[in-house]
Amino acid sequence: MKLCVALLAGDGIGPEVTAQAVAVLEAVCRSRSHQLEIASGLIGAAAIRAAGDPLPPETLTLAKSSGAVLLGAVGHPEFDALPPEKRPEKGLLRLRKELHVFANLRPAICFQALESFSPLRPEIVHGTNLLLVRELTGGLYYGTPRGISQENGEPRAVNTMAYSRSEIERIARMGFKLARGRKKRVVSVDKANVLENSQLWRETVTQLGAAEFPDVQLEHMLVDSCAMQIIQNPRRFDVVVTENLFGDILSDEAAVLTGSIGMLPSASLGEHTGLYEPVHGSAPDIAGKGIANPIGTILSAAMMLRHSFGLEQEAAAVEAAVTKVIDSGLRPKDLQGSASTEELGKAVLQAL
Ligand code: NAD
Ligand code: IPM
Ligand code: MN
Repeated sequence: MKLCVALLAGDGIGPEVTAQAVAVLEAVCRSRSHQLEIASGLIGAAAIRAAGDPLPPETLTLAKSSGAVLLGAVGHPEFDALPPEKRPEKGLLRLRKELHVFANLRPAICFQALESFSPLRPEIVHGTNLLLVRELTGGLYYGTPRGISQENGEPRAVNTMAYSRSEIERIARMGFKLARGRKKRVVSVDKANVLENSQLWRETVTQLGAAEFPDVQLEHMLVDSCAMQIIQNPRRFDVVVTENLFGDILSDEAAVLTGSIGMLPSASLGEHTGLYEPVHGSAPDIAGKGIANPIGTILSAAMMLRHSFGLEQEAAAVEAAVTKVIDSGLRPKDLQGSASTEELGKAVLQAL
């Protein structure tokens, strides 16, 4: 089959980690006689510098016309003092919205060989395998009105958390469907004791579950309690469905269970082109040093093979190769080892 992939490497360690994921995709496609076509585009700080726009029109056109998008990371300290509208991150937020990728799948799996790398005790993280399903194109990130204005002689800032019933239904449906292929347990996370937005969220998820997914066990949890229970007893979670900002925060917390945020992949799915990116950011503190952990990005490429191209065997082969490398004891710096980004990528290729 022919795979058309847009590569948006972005900033900081983005180009370093995506280079390894691309090498893995190339190897998989070569060995299974698939045709891989990769076209690169600019996003983030790199795009602001080159074109004055964190998501230039050519990049958006490229992304929309591809079968899938592989993205590294966006963000650079140079732009940290600018308002959200002018920052590199805005390019990513616009890309997600334009691609309509409303469902962000963030699996947090603790590899057995890495249990001792989590700051939690091994017996707590042992067997962790949760799938966070984060709503990605709504909520506080996109709600209006928003902005900073002057009121009574002082600045006042507003953001809006808005969800319609249909937006909640489609993300909940995604979570329930994914749970059917797993342990059939969904935890829906909200703040229904305070927010009307969460009241509608809870009502909608409850009704949808009863009507369409009576075979899936549904539990509601308040986000503060969820933050606690994820580190207290991560094994109790199978699929976690939640809104955009709660999902952003909980997924970094879940990353800790796996030993390092460098391990976490993600898939953002909608109706058409899927977007695949590691959960971590551009990591300016280690950019250019060749020590970034590429595994989150390599596993994101595996998710791309599975979700965008239906290549389950190829995806599983990449995941098995990663497990083999981890089992071999090769570790990047974020997991207290000394293997470089390139060494890890090469080891995955060899295991493949
Ligand atoms: P970060 O994820 O970039 O880094 C947090 C810490 O984790 C750093 O110490 C970093 O060195 C380490 N780390 C992250 N990925 C790693 C990897 N693959 N290997 C080894 N260590 C890794 O988060 P941050 O520092 O809060 O943000 C930095 C910039 O990235 C900001 O501009 C932020 O907006 C952006 N960001 C982008 C994305 C994205 O593009 N999806 C996600 C998160 C943050
Ligand atoms: C993530 C990041 C992004 C988000 C930022 C960079 C806009 O933190 O992908 O988790 O908040 O969604
Ligand atoms: Mn985040």
